[in-house]
Amino acid sequence: MDYKKVKIGLIGLGTVGCGVVKVLADFPEVEIKKIAVKNINKKRNIENLDISLLTDNPFDIVNDPEIDIVVEVIGGIEPAYDLLVAAVNNGKHIVTANKELLAKKGEPLFKLAKEKNTAILYEAAIAGGIPIIMPIKTTLAANKINEIEAILNGTTNYILTKMEKDGVSYEEVLKEAQELGYAETDPTGDVEGFDSAYKIATLATIALNKRVDINKIYREGITKISVDDMRFAKELGYKIKLVALAKTLEDGRVDVRVHPMLVHVKNCLASINGVTNSVVLEGFPVGRVMMAGPGAGEFPTASSVVGDILAIQRSIGENKLLPMMECHHHINAQQVDIKDTVNKYYISLTAVNTPGVIGALGEVFGRHNISLASVLQKGIGKENTAQIVIITENSKEDNILTAINELENNKNIVKINNYIRVLE
Ligand SMILES: NC(=O)c1ccc[n+]([C@@H]2O[C@H](COP(=O)([O-])OP(=O)(O)OC[C@H]3O[C@@H](n4cnc5c(N)ncnc54)[C@H](OP(=O)(O)O)[C@@H]3O)[C@@H](O)[C@H]2O)c1
Repeated sequence: MDYKKVKIGLIGLGTVGCGVVKVLADFPEVEIKKIAVKNINKKRNIENLDISLLTDNPFDIVNDPEIDIVVEVIGGIEPAYDLLVAAVNNGKHIVTANKELLAKKGEPLFKLAKEKNTAILYEAAIAGGIPIIMPIKTTLAANKINEIEAILNGTTNYILTKMEKDGVSYEEVLKEAQELGYAETDPTGDVEGFDSAYKIATLATIALNKRVDINKIYREGITKISVDDMRFAKELGYKIKLVALAKTLEDGRVDVRVHPMLVHVKNCLASINGVTNSVVLEGFPVGRVMMAGPGAGEFPTASSVVGDILAIQRSIGENKLLPMMECHHHINAQQVDIKDTVNKYYISLTAVNTPGVIGALGEVFGRHNISLASVLQKGIGKENTAQIVIITENSKEDNILTAINELENNKNIVKINNYIRVLE
């Protein structure tokens, strides 16, 4: 079948934009009509780039009547949101890699696109090169997906993998990751879990079929993970990962969150190392499905962006939008507060080395309805203190916090070093 040739306008020519231009060189059915950048004089990493395509006014693109598809790869909320609203109002289809925009402004944007009968595709925004959005909407459409466990940020997974393998501190690995270009100069968006939270907000909305509010997602980063935590986790048969979770509870509420977890070595997420991302879905009738691959980078991200461009180009050729390109999420999810969630916990504490401490710990946890799966004493330290590591059975977070608070005021407990949720 001969597909209609389409004209696209590319907004942004950084890591992803350059990849998109290079990959599109093999697709004559897609013509790049204009490219918007911030600094028109910057040298670009593309051979034979036609600089007459460049503009520093992105509104030239969204208002150009000849452009069919606007590809937004600048990131952030402003001016990206205003640009995409203008583009949709002008009847254009959108391809974007902007997870922050989707998480914060997805609802009004998809509503507008539905009114105007245009498509917004965003495969690259969630887990970069791993195909996940379209598979959920197409090949997995027969499923009721009730759970997602995922590693959605390559920078933090790189840092945690290095900490585990080399036994070095978070600060040291971060510095090295920044020198290698794996972490930004300001790493907050990655290491504090914002990036993963944006991605799981959209992924959970699509997979669980209810609109998830980014502002109600519990988020915690990796900055408090110590060399000791890594060591103890390893001895107990776990790896520490920044995990994005989403599940539907029996009462219909949804539990969506991002935080570090001790992941049992038998769980397939434990074997995801370095910058690799992975998404594990559980649904009926399929069961458990795992996808893994490159979550970022010039070419993996361009693979997803160009795939979306070609999907729209082909549907324009047939003169109708495919139903999976529309957004169908009208019900807002009722999201569970982290205090009401139930998890197993790793708790590391320093106690005075005196007889009866372990018994006293058992008494406090018992009173708060927390059963202990294992207790390890890790030798006598300075000033006659002992390191104690506990793994609990499934317990309510609220009870754990109350017990920890009580222990912090106990004369035999020097310090609660950390507590981390556990994924079996
Ligand atoms: N990098 C990845 O691996 C990856 C993976 C998945 C998703 N994403 C997402 O893809 C998007 C782009 O990421 P990136 O890494 O390619 O960013 P980047 O390298 O920083 O590139 C951003 C580009 O946007 C241009 N730009 C910024 N503000 C602009 C404005 N107001 N008008 C016109 N152009 C403007 C910049 O122009 P100048 O070049 O002139 O400064 C630059 O070319 C983000 O939403 C990001 O979250 C990235």
